[in-house]
Amino acid sequence: MTATTADQIPRTRERYGAYHRVRDFAEDSELTHVTRGTPGGEYLRRTWQPVCLSSELADLPIVVRMLGEDLVVFRTTSGEVAVMERHCSHRGASLEYGLPSDKGIVCCYHGWHIACDGTILDTPNDPESTIKERICHPAYPAREFEGIIFAWMGPPDDMPEFPILDIYRQPDTEMIPFSIHFPCNWVQVLDNTQDPTHSCFLHTRVSGAQFSISWGELPELDYIQTPIGMINLNVRRWNDKVWVRTTDMMLPNLNQTGALWLTADEEETFIRAALSRWMRAIDDTNTQMIGWRYFNDRNDPDGVGDRTQVGYGKIDFIGQTEHERPYEERQRVPGDFEAIVGQRPIAVHALENHNTGDRGVAMMRKIIRENIRALDAGDDYVTLERAVKVDGVVPTYTQDSVVTISPRDDDRTFMREIGHRVNDVVFDGANLPDDAREREFTAKLREIWQSYT
Ligand code: FES
Ligand SMILES: [Fe+2]
Repeated sequence: MTATTADQIPRTRERYGAYHRVRDFAEDSELTHVTRGTPGGEYLRRTWQPVCLSSELADLPIVVRMLGEDLVVFRTTSGEVAVMERHCSHRGASLEYGLPSDKGIVCCYHGWHIACDGTILDTPNDPESTIKERICHPAYPAREFEGIIFAWMGPPDDMPEFPILDIYRQPDTEMIPFSIHFPCNWVQVLDNTQDPTHSCFLHTRVSGAQFSISWGELPELDYIQTPIGMINLNVRRWNDKVWVRTTDMMLPNLNQTGALWLTADEEETFIRAALSRWMRAIDDTNTQMIGWRYFNDRNDPDGVGDRTQVGYGKIDFIGQTEHERPYEERQRVPGDFEAIVGQRPIAVHALENHNTGDRGVAMMRKIIRENIRALDAGDDYVTLERAVKVDGVVPTYTQDSVVTISPRDDDRTFMREIGHRVNDVVFDGANLPDDAREREFTAKLREIWQSYT
């Protein structure tokens, strides 16, 4: 099915014109559909996808739905993690009722013993059978990292190395995994992260400083492609301060967000991410956001964040989940969850009317679409795993910096200029190892600030 385009939908220009609204619109299936064999679903299978949190796995298997597939995840008695098709290859019993062994899992129904890689080790209901030499149970390679279990769901021959981001090496930082559910398509959850103007309205002017009041200032914005995705660049004026904020999107479905609780009242230099989060598609109309909250003194000097509110089904800022507040409160003081899920189970791109505030969303969708098509055509495509690594890690760009510079007559033009100069430094430093990068950034930033004073 091809997407309905904007041109195919007559706009209702008449007042009280709802009668003329075309009803049989189609969603943008190329981007939003995730099952195996769909172009978008194939692209999402070319990255290591988070599956669940380690904390969800005790001694019993759990059922997980990923990219429209029903899977089971378990830990063997020797500690290895496995991800495989939920239904036993014998006669389909659900392996959630199986017994983890030291090498894999034993199905409850007739005792078939399946190894983590899908090898059938034993068929005790017919010990002489040679079937175990002829079939394998469908399994995916799995990897556990910092409290999150990941799977490679693409072709086994194409499996890349598991990517390590520079941000995982932030000094004196606690990485706390979290996982929250959005009953809607993954693309609109990711859209939200390249849509900085919503912070002014939803999070501040509408719902009253869900973060800090300075978020309510409309920023100067730019969007820039990176080797593995894009960034948005926000430059805000806050009294005598200029606040430059950079947010990453890494292909195909990872966002990295800067400090959550910055007031921009104090000067800051190169504060790095507070969140990395994958929009992991459960199916076409459900998404699990899985990632880490990074706690350190730099991204939260006032200690507003709450470690106890980060984990399975929860995150320590308002408006991210369905059940944290009564419906009436969610109506009166909506958050991201309400705005995103309210866009329909799959947001209909053809019914949207974009303005310049949506440039980030449009650019991100374009980049994802180009890569979906490249993969489909057998051409080169980009994912996070294909980054050129520096010192063994993937360089990322997320940062916040705040400096004291008085307003000028042409202040918005001036802010754009500052933003671009800072951004150049962020990009230039990407080929340096972590500690050298921060030193270099701080020195160059000082030069920029001094050039204005
Ligand atoms: S259905 Fe699993 S062993 Fe028979
Ligand atoms: Fe938001």
